[in-house]
Amino acid sequence: MRSLVEETMLSPADFIAPLFVVDGKGAPEPIASMPGVMRYNVADLVKECRALAKLGVPAVALFPKLDAKFKDDAGTAALSEDALVLRAVRAVKKAVPALVVMTDIALDPYTAHGHDGVLTADARDVANDATVEILVKMAVLHARNGVDFVAPSDMMDGRIGAIRKALDAANYEQTAIMGYSAKFASAYYGPFRDAVGSAAAAGTRSLDKRTYQLNPANRREALVEVALDEAEGADILMVKPAGAYLDIIREVRNATLKPVAAYQVSGEYAQIQAAAKMGWLDLERTRHESLIAIKRAGADMILTYFAKEMAAVLKK
Ligand code: PBG
Repeated sequence: MRSLVEETMLSPADFIAPLFVVDGKGAPEPIASMPGVMRYNVADLVKECRALAKLGVPAVALFPKLDAKFKDDAGTAALSEDALVLRAVRAVKKAVPALVVMTDIALDPYTAHGHDGVLTADARDVANDATVEILVKMAVLHARNGVDFVAPSDMMDGRIGAIRKALDAANYEQTAIMGYSAKFASAYYGPFRDAVGSAAAAGTRSLDKRTYQLNPANRREALVEVALDEAEGADILMVKPAGAYLDIIREVRNATLKPVAAYQVSGEYAQIQAAAKMGWLDLERTRHESLIAIKRAGADMILTYFAKEMAAVLKK
């Protein structure tokens, strides 16, 4: 009877797995603040992608961790044809063509200061329009290398429209855009910044991105940002983080007919893992509850570091 009246269900097809990639041939590197999450070399990343596809996970989002020597203030390496993330995209699309591959369009893995764009002359803010110009080039480069979705995660104004226009002009009408549309300036990104090395580059993992990411206090402003991305042509609208922003997910769900994604971010994952490690929370049940809540709030799909384990459990 309980199953007859159950309103929300999770399935492996709900998940997008964020994956970290590194150069070289080394063993998978653990990330201290994200137990169970690894940085993979390209060959191991391909194996992981095969395993995810087999479990029914339809999509992955790839994040590169670059060596510090490839970073500079302009994020130059982001526009290199030989960029690590592009080598990873090519390898994954070749080995598992049906798996949807998404890449972040933002400069933070590439900048020495760890910000998502280039800075203004006084270095007090990210230069919006100069950054958009770079992101547009980056998006076209990623499309040429076979990504299915470019995912601008930078929160610059006007970048969705500019990217859509450039993709179409370069004949990549089929390349879709997932907007990180309501992305809050959140403390929950700390472990991710360890994972991609932007914390080490910046000398802090609590890098202040308040001049371009949303104020966690603001609900209406989040809806404005989402409406702008939708009007500019985003195919999927994302809310991020997820767990502390369920009200925003629900409002976005009610405000648009487009697919809505939510990102259960690194800090949300770390919290659950840490409490489970202490024996204070039950990992399996907390994991499931955290994700069912995000889906119930209105997310059509969830980016989560639990994707693989959840898919394995749900497939049984
Ligand atoms: C950067 C980016 C961030 C995340 C995804 N892309 C962090 C940030 O804005 O500093 C966070 C993901 C996570 O915490 O899991 N463009």
